[in-house]
Amino acid sequence: MKINFLPEEIIKKILSDETIKNYSSIIKELIENSIDAKAKNISIYIDNYVNNFTVKDDGCGMSYKDAIISYLKSTTSKIKKEKDLLNINSIGFRGNALYCISNISIMEIITKSKNNKTGLKLIIEYGKLIKKIPYFCNTGSSFSINNIFFNTPNKKKFLLSNKEEYKKIKNEIYKLIIVNNKINFKFYHNNKLIFIFKKSSILDRISNIVLNKKILTYNKKYKDLKLKIFLFFSKNKKNKYIYVNNKFIKNNIYYKIINNYLLKYIKKKINYFFFININNKFINFNINSDKNKVIFKSNINIKKIIIIFLKLLINKNYFYNKKKINILYLKQKQEQKQEQKQEKKQELYSNKEINYINNFFFNLKKKKLKNLKLIIIM
Ligand SMILES: Nc1ncnc2c1ncn2[C@@H]1O[C@H](COP(=O)(O)OP(=O)(O)OP(=O)(O)O)[C@@H](O)[C@H]1O
Ligand SMILES: [Mg+2]
Repeated sequence: MKINFLPEEIIKKILSDETIKNYSSIIKELIENSIDAKAKNISIYIDNYVNNFTVKDDGCGMSYKDAIISYLKSTTSKIKKEKDLLNINSIGFRGNALYCISNISIMEIITKSKNNKTGLKLIIEYGKLIKKIPYFCNTGSSFSINNIFFNTPNKKKFLLSNKEEYKKIKNEIYKLIIVNNKINFKFYHNNKLIFIFKKSSILDRISNIVLNKKILTYNKKYKDLKLKIFLFFSKNKKNKYIYVNNKFIKNNIYYKIINNYLLKYIKKKINYFFFININNKFINFNINSDKNKVIFKSNINIKKIIIIFLKLLINKNYFYNKKKINILYLKQKQEQKQEQKQEKKQELYSNKEINYINNFFFNLKKKKLKNLKLIIIM
């Protein structure tokens, strides 16, 4: 991935003003970057007060050249031309998240790309690069964010209590975990492991998150459009999520249509995860700065399609078939076991080794040995 500065005419067309509003928006942006970097493992660390974070991944990492411009305004590897805005294949595209985060915090970036022998550590204080040193690490990236909003006390005032912010962070992480089911996720709070999600199916992820095993799935394909719904009963009204091309979206009209329709025919408290998948050419995500709104091309009447889909679902009476739920569940478990067997951890160096080597270089530097490159080759 090569990072470019976006040309002025594209910058004008991208909505990217208020990207960072609270802690959860920072975590969301960092995880999205790790997903775009094709990470297989993502670990999230949050401190006791919920205001220092680290997101670590084993994705593609960045070259030196890319890393030192990654936090600047309008720098991205995800789009180049105006035309790319109409066919976005990544979650990010504005080249704005790291710029906004680095301006309101102290950000430490550790990164190494596959083609580099050593990595790089950068420290950026409120938008200014203050340290840049070679760093020995595995391929991938780690972003640590500290002192958030210290230079913007007005924003800090609008934060909720630690407990509420923590809840919001977890919710934001869950939204991403559900749909990125091929990635292993670990989440630590105050050095305590809170959860691990191993690579599994979306169904398994949902059932683990909503703690409900009786989930029904129903799917249908209409030409270029794939629809899938996971339904379950629950007293909690909050578990209603819609995704378009694996990105969580906010659209009150779609939620209303689905809620009303399901309530009309199934007179129980019903929750759902609804997935719409369509070729990126037919949608536009450049609608708001949160990247959580989407519009469909005018010839796709998505509301009508959703209603037809729900009608079919209700007609099938699929909902009450308990046998089917159990079969689905067993099949899912078998798949999961097979995947776990295949999975081999391929970390190149252990943390102990990394610490040892970094200390080694640190001591060498102290002795004023200049030719660091030569030593690395040794
Ligand atoms: N974890 C990561 N691994 C590898 N490269 C990364 C990572 N995080 C950021 N980058 C690089 O830094 C660039 C800038 O990131 P940033 O999040 O600011 O912008 P973006 O993801 O392109 O767009 P958006 O502002 O919509 O998120 C990315 O385009 C990507 O090339
Ligand atoms: Mg991004």
